Amino acid sequence: MAKKFLKDVAVKGKLVFVRNDFNVPLNAAGEITDDTRIQAALPTIRYLLENGARVVCASHLGRPKGEVLPDCSLAPVARRLGELLEKKVAFCRETTGAGAEKAKAALKPGQLLLLENLRFHPGETRNDPAFAAELAAGIELYVDDAFGACHRAHASIAEITRHVPLAVAGMLLKKEIDFLTLAAQTPPDDYLVILGGAKISDKLPLLKHLLGRADVILIGGAMAYTFLKAEGMDVGASRVENDRLELCRDIRRQAGERGVRFLLPCDHIAATKVEPNITVRIIRPGEGIPGEMMGLDIGPETVEAYRAEIDRARLIFWNGPMGVFEVDTFSGGTTEIALAVAAAKATTIVGGGDSVAAINKAGVAGGISHVSTGGGASLEFLSGDKLPGIEALTEA
Ligand code: 3PG
Repeated sequence: MAKKFLKDVAVKGKLVFVRNDFNVPLNAAGEITDDTRIQAALPTIRYLLENGARVVCASHLGRPKGEVLPDCSLAPVARRLGELLEKKVAFCRETTGAGAEKAKAALKPGQLLLLENLRFHPGETRNDPAFAAELAAGIELYVDDAFGACHRAHASIAEITRHVPLAVAGMLLKKEIDFLTLAAQTPPDDYLVILGGAKISDKLPLLKHLLGRADVILIGGAMAYTFLKAEGMDVGASRVENDRLELCRDIRRQAGERGVRFLLPCDHIAATKVEPNITVRIIRPGEGIPGEMMGLDIGPETVEAYRAEIDRARLIFWNGPMGVFEVDTFSGGTTEIALAVAAAKATTIVGGGDSVAAINKAGVAGGISHVSTGGGASLEFLSGDKLPGIEALTEA
């Protein structure tokens, strides 16, 4: 757990380095298609500016692997940040070196600078001490507000904390830790978890952790078909991890032993191809999926059964879509779950790109207690893993 918090330290006049996670999706024209992560970063930035700090923001975007790739530039983020703050955001094409030092030195209290993509430098992902020391040059306070990247032991997240006089958690990071700690360590009774997505392997550590915490687990997405095949159901051409069947049986057995109710979809939307205008068939409870068809979304009876569970819960964590959400024909189940979670009386936490996108698409983000900005990071946190970014703050 991070020991120090931004609001506990003096910031006036200080040169402050803020590590954000501005890894936002861009379309082919280089436009930001979802600015959730930028919006989520605003409270910390506003607090620093209003309290007279000189603010240097930094982030990665994409995986440029140490090369300067124009498609991964943070320039669109600088523009969006300026619009949201209604303030000039200076943008520096370098992360370190003479240009960056000059830009930092030019900052006056209440002014903001965004550095270019940290991953344009090979030292970032290598957690390189020399690169971290250069980033830290002249910095008087380091603020980690990049929860989405805290599971990466990278220079601007981990090593940098050894090169600055003071390192603290920003408001977003604190909010993420507070909400996710509730789900990871001290969930109330009637803790319900909804897990979807393609692969069981991605969710395995979390599933194992949840067997000791959750009361109800609802499964959707392609991973459901591996569980269903393991139960002996005919799943046709659905996506299945055949090397995980025994593991699925083991997870269900453990769930039974621990009294965790583990629900799989009872009906399905199936088709022969993942195409927008393809003819679909509803596979009813008790039916198998015909050989040439794939299960691509949960069916209406599953939606109703899952909704009833959601209505009863006191804490809900949701990660992963219920079907092939990116194709409208197969997005209905995920949208229904988004609506049900938003309407629930429970404390609700949603993490992961597709589930957050479903919440936004359905226009119900306001009904969610906490929309996590971390995909992989939230899964690792909830699995009980130590995140290098949070550990570095604790040690700093
Ligand atoms: C994310 O999008 O999950 C974070 O920004 C981390 O990005 P990465 O998986 O490329 O490290």
